[in-house]
Amino acid sequence: MEMNEVFLKLEGIKKSFGGVEALKGVDLEIKKGEIHCLAGENGCGKSTLIKVISGAHDATEGNIYIEGKKIEHLNPIDAIRLGIQVIYQDFAVFPNLTVAENIAMNRALMTGAKKMDWKKARELAVMAMEQIGAHMNPDILVERLSVANKQMVAICRAIINDAKLLILDEPTTALTAKEVDKLNIIIRRLKAKGIAIVIVNHKLDEIYGIADKLTILRNGENVANGGIEEFDRTRFIKDLTGRDIVETTYRPEKSTEEILRVERFTRNGAFEDVSFVLNKGDVLGITGLLGSGRSEIGDALFGLAPAESGKVFLNEKEISIKSIEDAMNHKIGYVPEDRLTQGLFLDRSIQDNTVAASISKYLIKGKLDHAKMYEVTKEWIKKIGCIAPSPNPDIRTLSGGNAQKMVIAKWLNTEPKLLVLNGPTVGVDVGSKSDIHMILHDLVKAGVGIIIISDDLSELIQNCNKIMIMKNGKASGMLEAATLNETELTHLLSGKKEDNNE
Ligand SMILES: Nc1ncnc2c1ncn2[C@@H]1O[C@H](COP(=O)(O)OP(=O)(O)OP(=O)(O)O)[C@@H](O)[C@H]1O
Ligand SMILES: [Mg+2]
Repeated sequence: MEMNEVFLKLEGIKKSFGGVEALKGVDLEIKKGEIHCLAGENGCGKSTLIKVISGAHDATEGNIYIEGKKIEHLNPIDAIRLGIQVIYQDFAVFPNLTVAENIAMNRALMTGAKKMDWKKARELAVMAMEQIGAHMNPDILVERLSVANKQMVAICRAIINDAKLLILDEPTTALTAKEVDKLNIIIRRLKAKGIAIVIVNHKLDEIYGIADKLTILRNGENVANGGIEEFDRTRFIKDLTGRDIVETTYRPEKSTEEILRVERFTRNGAFEDVSFVLNKGDVLGITGLLGSGRSEIGDALFGLAPAESGKVFLNEKEISIKSIEDAMNHKIGYVPEDRLTQGLFLDRSIQDNTVAASISKYLIKGKLDHAKMYEVTKEWIKKIGCIAPSPNPDIRTLSGGNAQKMVIAKWLNTEPKLLVLNGPTVGVDVGSKSDIHMILHDLVKAGVGIIIISDDLSELIQNCNKIMIMKNGKASGMLEAATLNETELTHLLSGKKEDNNE
């Protein structure tokens, strides 16, 4: 395949949803064998653009050319036939089919075979895995795979469908640092074969690690485009947000007023003998590798999966957290790790979701004060920087990052005494991230206890004054963030650089 040849060309692409103009005339050129990152703030139109390219959305206006040929009304089947493959965040794999079946199935459907030749399918699947250097047992059920390996299955499936353009929408949100490295190796292999790659990602460091080209969208328009070397960090952030972002570091005044004390917290198989204190003004960061118990601590504090032993004191009074109801009665809020399955009612309006955890505030003589709920939601949309036309639309019409912001707003609206945030800014753009951090710092100043569970080490160092590391269910002592840098923290986290051989 000849490199440097344009595979996809978009001209003046527009897309509206009712009154919302998501794309306002986007031009884009993707060459064969190029790794092209698409960046931009939440709601700027990245996912919408991908859906236009894959035929899932019909553009309202504009032209699409694939390998020089103008395509009228691109539909999803034609897009696949032309070599366009998209890997969404849920990977669209079938958990109760095997690796080989998952990889080979679509191809069978696409070639219109009447009967599935499973032996052939298995061979194809093994071949695809070899091509990208993925090592998985083709005969095990996909439900048993890690997130990273499910993603590999999706990539293999794209390969055997003769992908010429592979699009990945935020592929690294659920991956560990090591898995991101592996994914990058595979992406480079595909590039070497002449496959064009489009990646949507909010993490600047990861973009610098993989991209050849960069396109930045803002508010539905293409605002910058060029080789990645043309964008230093300052220009990148400025083009992305249209403003200068000051990355502040949180360093509170010392206080001895206790907000939360946890003593010998234990849940079998999850965490053991974990003790810590959170004073007024503290922002505590809890980190650790996947499966270290870091999320389970959050789940326990919110009563989702309660601890079996140990004590919790809130404002120096012992409390018992056996259920979510207990936690909410004690004014503990929790922004969960997986917003789409735990944090939101997708078929309800933005307003219903925003007031869902604080509904009693709006109940007057057995009647809900709808006007009040509307006003409050409107205020949160503004304060948290959510791109939404009004409180009325279904929350599923929001972009990924904007939905995440509303999960945070929902818990802030409960006026919590203690707020635990698990991966609060996953999928959130740099500008909004800094806005959210600012809001959290204001809350701490007002006396709210804040715990951030995260594997984003720079986020932890900038926003927490105390950091606790979880390893195999056990907690390290309390570390002072001011004395740490990212490299040191990385080392502490992995316990030197031992390499596990999966
Ligand atoms: N089905 C839909 N109905 C109504 N509005 C929609 C729909 N899909 C997207 N939008 C709107 O279009 C705009 C662009 O959304 P899109 O999902 O493309 O953003 P994004 O750049 O992918 O953001 P994020 O980084 O948060 O994922 C947003 O204002 C969003 O609310
Ligand atoms: Mg998106």
